Amino acid sequence: MNLVVVGAQWGDEGKGKMVDYFSDEAELVVRFSGGANAGHTVKIGSKTFALHLIPAGIISSGKSVVLGNGMVIDPASMFEELAAISAQSIEWEGRVFVSDRAHLVLPGYKSEDQSVDDMRSRPIGTTGRGIGVAYEKKASRDGVRVVDLWDSVIWDSMSKSDRAWLEPFKEWLAPMKINLAAFMLKNEGRKILLEGAQGTLLDLDHGTYPYVSSGVSVSSGASIGSAIGPRRIDKCLGVFKAYQTRVGNGPFPTEMRKDDEVVLANKLRELGHEYGVTTGRPRRIGYLDLVALRYAGWINSLDGFILSHLNLYDGFESVGLCTAYELDGEQIDYFPSSAAELERVTPLIENFDVWDGKVSEARNWEEIPDGAKKLVEVIEEYTGVAIHGFSVGPLRSETFMRTDAWTVS
Ligand code: IMP
Repeated sequence: MNLVVVGAQWGDEGKGKMVDYFSDEAELVVRFSGGANAGHTVKIGSKTFALHLIPAGIISSGKSVVLGNGMVIDPASMFEELAAISAQSIEWEGRVFVSDRAHLVLPGYKSEDQSVDDMRSRPIGTTGRGIGVAYEKKASRDGVRVVDLWDSVIWDSMSKSDRAWLEPFKEWLAPMKINLAAFMLKNEGRKILLEGAQGTLLDLDHGTYPYVSSGVSVSSGASIGSAIGPRRIDKCLGVFKAYQTRVGNGPFPTEMRKDDEVVLANKLRELGHEYGVTTGRPRRIGYLDLVALRYAGWINSLDGFILSHLNLYDGFESVGLCTAYELDGEQIDYFPSSAAELERVTPLIENFDVWDGKVSEARNWEEIPDGAKKLVEVIEEYTGVAIHGFSVGPLRSETFMRTDAWTVS
């Protein structure tokens, strides 16, 4: 069975933690997009793991992980991460595979990424990890793939300094590189988790273009980026937070900007530790946007949502939800394609009373306070997508499902 997990907002929804949770039952985890611009923090007991490239499933002992062909890989960053994992006493040798069609991020790409963004009249706020440059070179057919390191014609055409930089990685990558299509065919029928990166609204096609990343963040990318046909995808789950965050620039219709809202935003930022894992930048905070969430449900053909961070509202008076936009005097309920229109919309915020009791203490659906259950129903009804699971704290033990992830209905 092939189960896809994507972010349903602007990234940082808690996907990494869910991937780690699902990988207990998964037999293989494949990441299908992005690069070291992503950041996952996984907490297991007293240990914290910050991952950028390696799928979170590496932490569950015995599981194999794959960096798919849809990714752009900075080998220096990858081997640094593996060294940090080794330092935490996790043995990964023989469990990490890399698609030989994945593209590489070369040393000059990072500074180019940053300087191109600095020169833009409307900077995107890139993480500066060379991701945009690597995908650009991929599309213009000037990229360097893992397999190309063993192609003497391509190797000889590279600059002396790039070759010198790549030489040690060539040796280390040799036992990890695989032909992913052949590998997936061999593994057909196993429980495979396909992990997305960033979030739906940062997707190159369906996000808030041009304020997006350069990879495919939606579920259809799982097919291309992990070398399986689209009909092999059995189930898609989308993770979202009970509020909205965004790092970097770009439209954010429900951002909390007014004086009284900023107080709430600061409170949520501190409670939720809303600072970028990759750059440390404070994340922008907004109300949960149901217009955008319904769009994410559609564009990813989600079978279910996982709701995270609802516990942050425990003890608050109310939760604000955006249920429509007003654009140029007209009420709309779709997610506009134009960044300028998204900048212009006014969100219609409805306030819901916060529950008695604590979501943070719930370990199954029955233990969720009644008021919070009502809110869940409002979200499900609006989006047409059922909420299959909850993450109510940073630990793996603070996660539970209402519907089994590995069952197809
Ligand atoms: P880039 O992909 O590093 O060029 O960044 C493009 C935009 O996507 C910037 O606004 C980044 O802040 C944002 N971005 C990229 N990766 C992530 C992520 O994993 N989480 C949240 N935002 C991201």
